[in-house]
Amino acid sequence: MFNIILFGPPGSGKGTQSENLVTKYQLKHLSTGELLRKEIAAETPLGKAAKLVMDEGHLVPDEVVIGMIGSVLKNNEHAKGFLFDGFPRTVAQSEALDELLKQEKAEINVVLALEVGEEELMKRLLSRGLTSGRSDDHSQEIVRERIVEYHKKTTIVADYYKQFNKVVSIKGEGTVDEIFLSLCNEIDKRLS
Ligand code: AP5
Repeated sequence: MFNIILFGPPGSGKGTQSENLVTKYQLKHLSTGELLRKEIAAETPLGKAAKLVMDEGHLVPDEVVIGMIGSVLKNNEHAKGFLFDGFPRTVAQSEALDELLKQEKAEINVVLALEVGEEELMKRLLSRGLTSGRSDDHSQEIVRERIVEYHKKTTIVADYYKQFNKVVSIKGEGTVDEIFLSLCNEIDKRLS
């Protein structure tokens, strides 16, 4: 199993790059944001509770996302590997993920961290908000709050994986193709 965390702030291109990476490397894409948006669309109790938090730009409680990830891992035990997008976002989530993977005799192989300046992040998210219908994209305050939340709770996830030498920084500004190439270079080095 080859497992990747695609790491980075909101708007850094995790979702965009994930789509191409999972196709190329035949990995199972696991985006907690997408899973939560499906719960919201289905109007489940979990979705209704998550929407209130997401619309403020804050993180959904750890136990909720860890539970979701746990079931997806269990249902995909024969996957070649996973690409985690938007997860883990706290140290508690990282520790829980390591534990879940250990049960499968697997681990995180690399954390690819997309680096994008704050002005570019704001520009990308607000411009997507004009058409996407994503309620957490359309106001400058909510987008800013998501970035603040990232600095408060999520940047330390990179420090957590740095202690195991698993983090590689990738320039996340440029064309989608240029960034994809940089990501593939790092993955290929580890696969060969
Ligand atoms: P989530 O869905 O994970 O969103 P996010 O991390 O805020 O990320 P985005 O999807 O907005 O950005 P991205 O980095 O994927 O960039 P994208 O490729 O889309 O989370 C949403 C919410 O769910 C969270 O705020 C939280 O409330 C909750 N949540 C999710 N996971 C959680 C967890 N683990 N724990 C707790 N709560 C959780 O690109 C953005 C835009 O930029 C697009 O329009 C794209 O076309 C454009 N773009 C991409 N690449 C480029 C490029 N190279 N140049 C120009 N534009 C580009």
